[in-house]
Amino acid sequence: MHQFKFYNPVKILFGPGQIANVAANIPQGSKVMLVYGGGSIKKNGIYAQVTQALSGFEYVEFPGVEANPKYETLMKAVELVRKEKVDFLLAVGGGSVIDGTKFIAAATYFEGEDPYVICTERARIGKALPLASVLTMPATGSEMNCGGVISRLSTQEKFAFSSPLLFPRFSVLDPSVTKTIPPRQRGNGVVDAFVHVTEQYLTCPAHGDIQDRFSEAILHVLLDNGDAYVNDPGDMDAASNIMWACTMALNGLIAAGVPEDWSTHRIGHEITALAGLDHGQTLAVVWPGVQREMASGKHEKQKQYAARVWNTADVEEALAKTEDFFRRMGVGTRFSDYPQVQDPQGLIDAIVERFKVRETLLGENADIDYRKTRAILESRK
Ligand code: NZQ
Ligand code: ZN
Repeated sequence: MHQFKFYNPVKILFGPGQIANVAANIPQGSKVMLVYGGGSIKKNGIYAQVTQALSGFEYVEFPGVEANPKYETLMKAVELVRKEKVDFLLAVGGGSVIDGTKFIAAATYFEGEDPYVICTERARIGKALPLASVLTMPATGSEMNCGGVISRLSTQEKFAFSSPLLFPRFSVLDPSVTKTIPPRQRGNGVVDAFVHVTEQYLTCPAHGDIQDRFSEAILHVLLDNGDAYVNDPGDMDAASNIMWACTMALNGLIAAGVPEDWSTHRIGHEITALAGLDHGQTLAVVWPGVQREMASGKHEKQKQYAARVWNTADVEEALAKTEDFFRRMGVGTRFSDYPQVQDPQGLIDAIVERFKVRETLLGENADIDYRKTRAILESRK
C-alpha cells in the first residue's frame, strides 16, 4: 500500500423523510440557488418537498441542467449567481446536476478569463461557493466526492475537474426518490458503480486488504441487489442498498493507497462527447475490452476477482459473467447494441486521433496509448 491521505467531509443524511432536514443544514440567512435538471423532480414530488424545506430561505432557481451537463448552460447559471448574489448552491438531481453545481461553485469565483480551464488545464480552484445535494438517482458517487465532469457543446469535449473545495457540505440520500427512475437509468447507475469499484481494484496487487475486501463487498451488494432494483421500483431494500453502494463506490475510501485505472471512464467520456451515449452505456461497452486487452498487467487481481466475486478460478468466465450482468441490467456491451452509433469505425478513429494528438496515456501503468485504445475499441464493435 502506498502512502495516503484520506479526507472526506461530506455529511450524509440517509433515509426517507431526510429532505425535510435540508433547512437545518444550510446556514441561516443564506441566499440559496436551487439547481435541477429537466423536470423529473416536478413530476415525482421531490421539488415540492425541497421547496417546502426551503420555505424559510430566500432562493432562486436554475432549472435545465442537462444529462452530461453543458458548460454553455452552466455559465448562464454563473451569471444568475452573480446577479442574485447567491451564497449557497443546492443541487437536486443525479450526477449531472451535482457535477454542474460543482462547476458553478468553482466558476463563480474563478479569477481569469474562462473557467473552462478548470477542466482542460486543471487550473487551480482557489475559492468556491458552498454547495449541498439532494440525490435523486444512485450512480456516480458525486454526492460524496469532490469531482465533476463537464461537456462542452461547441468543441464536443467532456473533461473532469476536482478540488477539495467542491465536496458537498451535506447530501440527502432518500432511497424512496428512486421510484420514478426509468429502467435505462437504473441499469446505467448499477453499471457505473460496478465499474467505479473495478477501476480502483482491478489493477496490480498493492496488498491493500481493507480496500480489496471493501471493494469486493460493494461488488457483491451490486450483484445481489441489481436485478431487484432494475426490475422492481417498489423494492426499497434493493434501492437502499444500491444507493449506499453507489455512494461508497466513489467517495475515496477504496482508492486510498492503491493504484487506479480510469481508462474505461476516460475512453467512455469520449464516446459520450462524440456520439451521445449515456455514461453507463459507454462503460459497459469499453470495460470488457480494457479487461481483456490489459490482462497481463491485471492478471493477479483478475484472478482474485474471479475467485472472490464469481467463485471461479477461470478469469474469462468471470469477465463473461460480468458482461452478462451488465446486459441483464439492460445496458448493451457492444457498439452494435446502440443504433445511434451509425459509424462505429468513424467514432473509434476519432477517439484514437484525439488520444494521439493529446499524447494520452491511461491505465495504472500509463501504458494504454492510442494504439492500445484502438485495440480495446475495435474489440467492442
Ligand atoms: O434531468 P431530469 O429531468 O431530472 O432527469 C434525469 C436525467 O434525464 C433522470 N432522473 C434523475 N433522477 C430521477 C430521474 N428520472 C426520474 N426520477 C428520478 N428520481 O435521469 C437522467 C440522467 O441523470 P444524470 O444525472 O445524467 O445521470 P447520472 O447520475 O448517471 O450522471 C451522469 C453524469 O455524471 C458524470 C457522468 O460523466 C455524467 O456526466 N459522472 C460524475 C462522476 C463524479 N462526479 O464523481 C463520476 C462518474 O464516473 C461520472 O463520470
Ligand atoms: Zn462513472
